[in-house]
Amino acid sequence: MPSLLGEEIVARINELAAISETPEHLARIYLTPEHRKAADLLLSWMREAGMSAHLDAIGNVCGRYEGEAPDLPCLMLGSHYDTVRDAGKWDGPLGLITAISCVADLNRRGRRLPFAIEVTGFADEEGVRFASTLLGSRAVAGTFDESVLNAHDHAGISMREAMIAFGLNPDHIGAAARARRELLAYVELHIEQGPVLEEKELPVGVVTAIAGATRLAAKLTGMAGHAGTVPMGLRRDALTGAAESITAIEEFCKTDGGGLVGTVGYIDALPGATNVIPGKVSFTIDIRAPTDMHRKRAVADIVRRIEAIAKRRTLALQVDVTHENRTVPCAPWLKEQVAEAVAGEGFPVFELPSGAGHDGMAMIDIADVAMLFVRCRAGISHHPDEHVELADADAGARVLLRLIENFWPREMVQS
Ligand code: GLV
Ligand code: MN
Ligand code: MN
Repeated sequence: MPSLLGEEIVARINELAAISETPEHLARIYLTPEHRKAADLLLSWMREAGMSAHLDAIGNVCGRYEGEAPDLPCLMLGSHYDTVRDAGKWDGPLGLITAISCVADLNRRGRRLPFAIEVTGFADEEGVRFASTLLGSRAVAGTFDESVLNAHDHAGISMREAMIAFGLNPDHIGAAARARRELLAYVELHIEQGPVLEEKELPVGVVTAIAGATRLAAKLTGMAGHAGTVPMGLRRDALTGAAESITAIEEFCKTDGGGLVGTVGYIDALPGATNVIPGKVSFTIDIRAPTDMHRKRAVADIVRRIEAIAKRRTLALQVDVTHENRTVPCAPWLKEQVAEAVAGEGFPVFELPSGAGHDGMAMIDIADVAMLFVRCRAGISHHPDEHVELADADAGARVLLRLIENFWPREMVQS
């Protein structure tokens, strides 16, 4: 029987989803006016839940619920509030809103714990705008790469300019960094974004590890020319070179057989006219595999294949790594507590890896990490049809609340 937590969470998921670049397609991209509006709403929910709350130096929303005494180290919960384009409404907000609802529940009961609870809404996990991902959590972990400030979005606006327009000072990003001693652990609840829990008929699952990822930006340069006059054999068409490269990436990943996945999700051809041979093409490549070794080998092989295609077609090739994250294992001591909370709520304990990236990949640099997955319909994510049943949102919340209330810091577990 769902508790009121699930109802509050679903209502808030819908309220937040209404804050979007356009009403038809959910898009809440980092440092846009709608991103700011969402931040303000989240801050108000945090305050209503009994937390002190503020926007940090990179735009993360940060809430803190004090423990039995002031200034205790915290159990940090969180997820992100940016989205991809034409997104689903659960990816990110489910974990964030659930964490706020759990704190609100503790607050209503006047329950204080021997540690503080912090809820962080990370400002940019998806990396849609500035090619580099995990910007919010990297700032918190103190690993933000300042060179990203000079990256430009597709409209030519730099991250530095966008931060200033948003009301943030790009020279103060360092102030968002937290110290390891301030955190007891980082725990994130998230929709599974895959079909496994549904297939197993389970509402929740315990994550074993977050798979690593490499993102590349490829640029092919040929020669633009007249579509009517340059014979086919004399062309240096950058777009057909990209098309062949993209097919080669698909073929390579398809025949791997070991869980390798590769995606070209963005392509731009210039000058971009029907009657002009494309002279310059940029495209992105996202590669993930079950192990870091496997992914690294695959990236090297894929780059070699594209190099060969470019050489045969006399195209210049530039490939830059825009993002690289190793596989992050969830800490056994913490995973055990997630499993106990799952069992405590009467659900079978089932473990699964995360193929998707999450803020824990950055948080691992300052804290042990664990994740709880909630079933989503048909494994659909990064798509408007993404859906979580109210009963499952509620189950996730009850497990998270139980985890919080029974949480033991690592030192106490080991002593
Ligand atoms: C984030 O959603 C990712 O895995 O790309
Ligand atoms: Mn996502
Ligand atoms: Mn996500």
